[in-house]
Amino acid sequence: MMKPLLGFPNALALLGTLFLVLLARVLAADAPPTFHEKWRPQFHFTPVDTWMNDPNGMVFYEGEYHLFYQNNPFGNRWGHMSWGHAISRDLAHWEHLPLALAEEDGVMIFSGSVVVDWKNTSGFGKEGRPPLVALYTGHYTKRPLQNQHLAYSNDKGRTWTKFAGNPVLDLKMADFRDPKALWHEPTSRWVMTVALPKEAKVHFYASPDLKRWDYVGEFGGAGATNGLWECPDLFPLPVEGGGSKWVLVVNINPGGPAGGSGCQYFVGEFDGKRFVADRTTHSRTSEPLWADWGRDFYAAVSWSDIPRRDGRRLLLGWMSNWEYANDVPTFPWRSAMTVPRDLVLRQTPAGHRLLQRPVRELNRLRDGGGSVRRTTVAEANGWLARRPVPLGLAELELHLDQVPGSGVLALECRHGKSGNTRIEADFKAGTLRIDRTRSGPSDFSTAFAGVHMAPLRIINGKLDLRLLLDTSSVEVFAQGGETVLTDLILPESPDLQLSLVATGAAGNVRVDSVSLWPLRPAPSVLGNSKP
Ligand code: FRU
Repeated sequence: MMKPLLGFPNALALLGTLFLVLLARVLAADAPPTFHEKWRPQFHFTPVDTWMNDPNGMVFYEGEYHLFYQNNPFGNRWGHMSWGHAISRDLAHWEHLPLALAEEDGVMIFSGSVVVDWKNTSGFGKEGRPPLVALYTGHYTKRPLQNQHLAYSNDKGRTWTKFAGNPVLDLKMADFRDPKALWHEPTSRWVMTVALPKEAKVHFYASPDLKRWDYVGEFGGAGATNGLWECPDLFPLPVEGGGSKWVLVVNINPGGPAGGSGCQYFVGEFDGKRFVADRTTHSRTSEPLWADWGRDFYAAVSWSDIPRRDGRRLLLGWMSNWEYANDVPTFPWRSAMTVPRDLVLRQTPAGHRLLQRPVRELNRLRDGGGSVRRTTVAEANGWLARRPVPLGLAELELHLDQVPGSGVLALECRHGKSGNTRIEADFKAGTLRIDRTRSGPSDFSTAFAGVHMAPLRIINGKLDLRLLLDTSSVEVFAQGGETVLTDLILPESPDLQLSLVATGAAGNVRVDSVSLWPLRPAPSVLGNSKP
């Protein structure tokens, strides 16, 4: 006689185990986010447990930096676009607030901006307090239409009312989006920059009250045009050493410098109607200017209404790329923002260039740390070898004097036993690269693994590099922020060990200084809706 495979008690045990596994699954799906999940960034903004893309409506008001963002409140893939909301007082720690603007009646809330209407030109203000006014794109899900809408808040952005007279600007186009508003002081009126993605151009509109908008000019046909123009921004920016110029930021997808999504900018003059790009740098045939050469920097726009006494122009971008954003294997949330960056222009022999630096507020996350000065690569390496970073959160600064004409100096970031991300300065080629082919898993998308490259300008024989490493990203700022690369990485282990690897003439390079700071996590908190 055949023996039964499972006796009664065994079958019962198996059923019991199955039940427990199922129960664990259900509980895990419902488990509150811990913010310590694998690859959860510890000092970059992430949504709690849903999908995020573009930053939206960034505005400073009464001590709070607002960050709204493209959000699917129902899942961790793109869909049901609405505005998620968070605030920060120090640009490092974030408090999550309830959804600000929800999809309604077949109209999704696409990207846009928020301004403080200080003079109450819109009339939405209450009790002598200026309203916050949001300008966003209504995306119609049942017909091919996008147009511009208003909403306002009288309680520091906690609750929003959609304007009864929406839309406020309608060209009856299927692709017309991402309005960014600014108060143009010289002409005393509002200016909106908005994208016509398929025509690779932006329009400028002017308004006395944020409600009636008149076309005043447009800009296009320059820089990178081989993709959709999205999420534009326009602002005046100081030049190091004096003066200021206007910067027009235009995100483009695809067609970015590392493939897929990218962020380009133009420098020039704006008179309230027309933007005229500097001729030396922006003829039709000139190379585009890229704000970031990495694979994961998109939809970057700046904060509005930073007080004049502060005077900074701060910007951040979505740290992903449409080529694989929906597939990055993080749960329950998906996507992060870059760190906020402080902008300024630098006059170079080739024209004005954007400099980006992590905001100084992030220095407060430095936990101990130290430096070694005037040394060799070998000695600097010995010093680094004694400084592993167990949580993988680190900032590194490297200064080199008398950079050789050839050779490669690589900064190797080893993750645990097997992972490794390399940042390589190639002095002969004049390039800076991030190689994430061996950082960690990339099987979720064939587009993910790769080496991403930027031109590197050696200034007076010197090179400086600054690196910010979080659990799943690396941001590299070279030459005071003239060349920037941002890449997602997915190391299997949080253990981080940095070292320098020199080949050829780079072996004899003089290291002016190396500094390494382990960084403290900046946990976000779940807030409530009260101001
Ligand atoms: C850019 C973008 C915007 C649009 C939004 C929709 O990433 O395509 O143009 O408003 O995302 O989520």
